[in-house]
Amino acid sequence: MSGRRWATLVGATSVLALALGWSAVGAKAPKKGVDWVALNPGFAGATFVNDPETCRTCHEDGMKTYAHTAHARTLDATPADGAGDCESCHGPRSKHVEAPSGDLALGTKAKAQSAVCLQCHQGGTRFAWKGGQHQANDVSCTACHTVMEAKSPKALLAKADTGATCYQCHQDVRADMNKMSHHPVRENRMDCASCHNVHGAAPSLLTKPTLNDTCYTCHADKRGPFVWEHAPARESCATCHSAHGSNNRNLLTSKDPFLCLTCHSYGGHINLPRYNRVSNPYGSGCSNCHTSVHGSNHPSGAKLTR
Ligand code: HEC
Ligand code: HEC
Ligand code: HEC
Ligand code: HEC
Ligand code: HEC
Ligand code: HEC
Ligand code: HEC
Ligand code: HEC
Ligand code: HEC
Ligand code: HEC
Repeated sequence: MSGRRWATLVGATSVLALALGWSAVGAKAPKKGVDWVALNPGFAGATFVNDPETCRTCHEDGMKTYAHTAHARTLDATPADGAGDCESCHGPRSKHVEAPSGDLALGTKAKAQSAVCLQCHQGGTRFAWKGGQHQANDVSCTACHTVMEAKSPKALLAKADTGATCYQCHQDVRADMNKMSHHPVRENRMDCASCHNVHGAAPSLLTKPTLNDTCYTCHADKRGPFVWEHAPARESCATCHSAHGSNNRNLLTSKDPFLCLTCHSYGGHINLPRYNRVSNPYGSGCSNCHTSVHGSNHPSGAKLTR
């Protein structure tokens, strides 16, 4: 755990933590509590055992895989607030220890399950979780995260990598990523999280407030400003490009010249016999001559030809 990140996670409680003699780094207290009885009436009357060793007597195997997770490494029993380690996610277990059963599960309501995690993870990239497309559609934290076992090299993902985690539900994107021209996700040069913050609420859950801003993080040369702008590039890169994949070169939504002809007519060139004589603009792609389709800074780039 990086002390600084955890410090912001529990910023509000760190003063209390220091007062109680915990170090800021060691403070593991959840930021806000969970109404365990509302989550599962079986918790009524139960108290926290606060001793993972008690759990080990019956859950040895599960605890072996759990031992390799970030939680096992960073959480430990902190009796001061009554919710250490296992019970910070599994609720007060005194009754369970006395009479074990399987009926204290976190329930089936995604939002209630997520509340367990949000005790400690409300901030950061999850600032806008509530109201975001995943939260609103009942996708719980545990749909993407498997916390009892580290199955991925980072972030406790449910599958070995980000793509596989997402493809559980977004099969159409896998098909796009297999097309001839695609962003190099399959090649492991980037992943879904390079463009998406799935914890958020931005349009299309992108990392930036607008689609173009997201693209500029890696394709800064397309940002401009240009002396000669091309209106559609300023407006949205997605007018001409499929973000995930396409069977046209350069991720184009349709083939050049048809792409250009959805907005332009050939008319412009009919008045330019010079060019008609040299070449039929329909035959060669428009961008053979209009090489600066994203905008031009050349003094005579008005027609985006240089
Ligand atoms: C009691 C507080 C607490 C609760 C409750 C909690 N976490 Fe965590 N979580 C932490 C701490 C502390 C870390 C380590 C932070 C760090 O390394 O910066 C962490 C790390 C993580 C990570 C990153 C792991 C990695 O290997 O990078 C994920 C993912 C995560 N938690 C998901 C969850 C999910 C999902 C839940 C609910 C099922 C949950 N957490 C509940 C405290 C908590
Ligand atoms: C960060 C939250 C979190 C912590 C900490 C945690 N668990 Fe879990 N545990 C879960 C979730 C969520 C599930 C449900 C299965 C899943 O989504 O992986 C689960 C499932 C289980 C199960 C059911 C069997 C299984 O593996 O699916 C047992 C038993 C269990 N946990 C015991 C423990 C014990 C013992 C500890 C402490 C050593 C512990 N858990 C710590 C969140 C947590
Ligand atoms: C005396 C044995 C025993 C002890 C001690 C024990 N458990 Fe269990 N636990 C069980 C049994 C039996 C089940 C039911 C397994 C099943 O349904 O397959 C279970 C199920 C669970 C489950 C999954 C179902 C549910 O109700 O959520 C979790 C999580 C869990 N235990 C957590 C804990 C934690 C945390 C501790 C320590 C505070 C603990 N257990 C201590 C025997 C025990
Ligand atoms: C739709 C899938 C998905 C859901 C739902 C989801 N996550 Fe994540 N989470 C991810 C992915 C993917 C990453 C890795 C991001 C990266 O590579 O930058 C991640 C990273 C994390 C991390 C570590 C890095 C960070 O951002 O702090 C934590 C902690 C975390 N998630 C907690 C949660 C919690 C808590 C919830 C529920 C409120 C949740 N996640 C819901 C996919 C998901
Ligand atoms: C458990 C199923 C599930 C998983 C796993 C999942 N999603 Fe989703 N996702 C949904 C649902 C449901 C919606 C909302 C309905 C929709 O737009 O399809 C959604 C919406 C989205 C949206 C927004 C769509 C829009 O038009 O606003 C994006 C982007 C997205 N998911 C990306 C991801 C990524 C990236 C991952 C992996 C880190 C992931 N999802 C994992 C179920 C899932
Ligand atoms: C290069 C950036 C980028 C990467 C990488 C990326 N996406 Fe997207 N994604 C976008 C953009 C931009 C949109 C919105 C497209 C639009 O509005 O036309 C989008 C839309 C989506 C949507 C909603 C629309 C749809 O196509 O279903 C989902 C779901 C989605 N992405 C999932 C994923 C998954 C899963 C991955 C990883 C396998 C991924 N994305 C990788 C940029 C990206
Ligand atoms: C995280 C960095 C990143 C982001 C964000 C990003 N790209 Fe890319 N883009 C790449 C990489 C890497 C390549 C592959 C370059 C290569 O192979 O040399 C690429 C290639 C491309 C290509 C050429 C594809 C081909 O077949 O040659 C286009 C077009 C493109 N990106 C458009 C976009 C658009 C539009 C967006 C915003 C929706 C975007 N990119 C966002 C990294 C990014
Ligand atoms: C009017 C249609 C159009 C729009 C809008 C557009 N592009 Fe393109 N883009 C193209 C065409 C056509 C090519 C192929 C150019 C060629 O073959 O020389 C291309 C090629 C690319 C390439 C790969 C070659 C290179 O120049 O690096 C990237 C990356 C790219 N575009 C990014 C973007 C980004 C980012 C945006 C949004 C700011 C955007 N494009 C908006 C038409 C467009
Ligand atoms: C979504 C619609 C759209 C698409 C697709 C599109 N353009 Fe444009 N284009 C425009 C608009 C709008 C202008 C600005 C027109 C104006 O200022 O009169 C423009 C301006 C131009 C100009 C400068 C015209 C002038 O009179 O100064 C050229 C050249 C051009 N586009 C070429 C292309 C090429 C080549 C493609 C295909 C790669 C293309 N355009 C695709 C909408 C589009
Ligand atoms: C052989 C090279 C060439 C090809 C191919 C070509 N253009 Fe042009 N186009 C030009 C030149 C050069 C000009 C600028 C003439 C001028 O400066 O007066 C121009 C001008 C334009 C203009 C501005 C018209 C005006 O009235 O000034 C538009 C729009 C345009 N082209 C669109 C296209 C489209 C769409 C295609 C593909 C169907 C295309 N061009 C193919 C060379 C070409």
